[in-house]
Amino acid sequence: MQKLIVNGGKTLRGELSLQGCKNSALPIMAASLLCGEECVLNNCPELTDIYSASRILNGLGSRCRFSDNTAVIDSQNISKTEIPENLMREMRSSIIFMGAILGRTGECTVSIPGGCELGPRPIDMHLAAMKKMGVDIRESYGKIICRVPFGKAHGAKISLPFPSVGATENIILCAVTADGETVINNAAREPEICDLCGFLRACGAEISGDGESRIVIKGQNRLHGCVYAIMPDRIACATYLSMVAATGGEIVLKNVCVAETEPFVSVLEQTGCSIYTYDDRIYLRSGSRLKAVKDRIRTMPHPGFPTDAQAVLMSALVTANGTSVFEENIFDCRYRHTDALVKMGADIQVLGKIAVIKGVPQLHGANVEATDLRGGAAMVSAALSAEGTAEISGISHIDRGYEKIEEAVRHLGGDIRRV
Ligand code: EPU
Repeated sequence: MQKLIVNGGKTLRGELSLQGCKNSALPIMAASLLCGEECVLNNCPELTDIYSASRILNGLGSRCRFSDNTAVIDSQNISKTEIPENLMREMRSSIIFMGAILGRTGECTVSIPGGCELGPRPIDMHLAAMKKMGVDIRESYGKIICRVPFGKAHGAKISLPFPSVGATENIILCAVTADGETVINNAAREPEICDLCGFLRACGAEISGDGESRIVIKGQNRLHGCVYAIMPDRIACATYLSMVAATGGEIVLKNVCVAETEPFVSVLEQTGCSIYTYDDRIYLRSGSRLKAVKDRIRTMPHPGFPTDAQAVLMSALVTANGTSVFEENIFDCRYRHTDALVKMGADIQVLGKIAVIKGVPQLHGANVEATDLRGGAAMVSAALSAEGTAEISGISHIDRGYEKIEEAVRHLGGDIRRV
């Protein structure tokens, strides 16, 4: 099992080009199944979750290969419609293939997906929406067997009880080649939804309203291939900004989609960091000790503060001057990283969805274990600002979402190595 060894206390400085976005690359890879032609995805991050998606595609009969952050996917010939349980368990996004396989073939067999353990992560909204679009769903010995009686799903009006990102993606994927029009009310508005729709439009789909709460999809007979660039990763952006802020450093982040980072950046600015944006760049300078954030930081669906940035911002606020309060509203169990931060000397009290962080002057390196992707990144960030050496195990979680994290941090002057 690999570990990251971090000798903390170095100020991070420099320029970094941001990786492509995991959470839009994954549904876009699934979407490529709908195209009878080759798709070329540029700016595709090379991550273990992306390799899992590639294994799913190859298992279905597509051909997916990577080089230099470009994925070339040829889904002309699909020979299977079942995703084996071991591949379903590798990540949450495996469930997004359901809508795409159904859209392409009219049948599919999946099972409950894996992914980070952040509390219960049901798929009831996904299944209810598929049923509304005419899909028969039967569960048998852990398998979810889906079939569209006449080979093609039909459009439907679907009102989601919560703007679920995954359910919105699955509905879009099933609807783009369905008969008639689909309307999603209370749809997720995350930028990754817009990126998926941007890709699908480039393949000939008719979709409007993405980025808003009401998305309308007009079903097409078929989609074609395209060349598309995956958007930059706004959560990796939040992570590197938090790390640099925590170490009192300075950074120019390049290849950023600046508008999409606003919900995070507007909170980070309250810590006293100077932040300027221009074109596709963000400049951050963090001088002396950070200030605590006065208002409660409430995670909310986009355009609220992103739940995926909660842990990494917390890693910077544990040494801020004063008390900050988080309220986690998306997942029931997304404070699992706090035990590790406390072991490093942080003062954090968690009660249900609330976490109260009383800033301490200094953290100390310790042996900790990453519990999930963003929590693991928060541990790296805390270790970089701590004095002494930290050993972080469980880093396969981190590798699911950060491309060569140790190289990025070393590039900024951090002392980190993988053993
Ligand atoms: N939910 C249900 N039923 C459903 C679907 C969702 O109750 O059928 C609940 C979930 O349990 C959760 C809430 O709705 O409490 C939000 O879940 P959502 O479906 O929006 O999340 P997701 O699609 O599973 C994606 C990202 C997550 C990110 C969330 C929220 C991907 C691959 N994952 O998950 O990213 O936290 O949206 O923005 O896109 C990460 O990258 O570290 C990560 C966990």
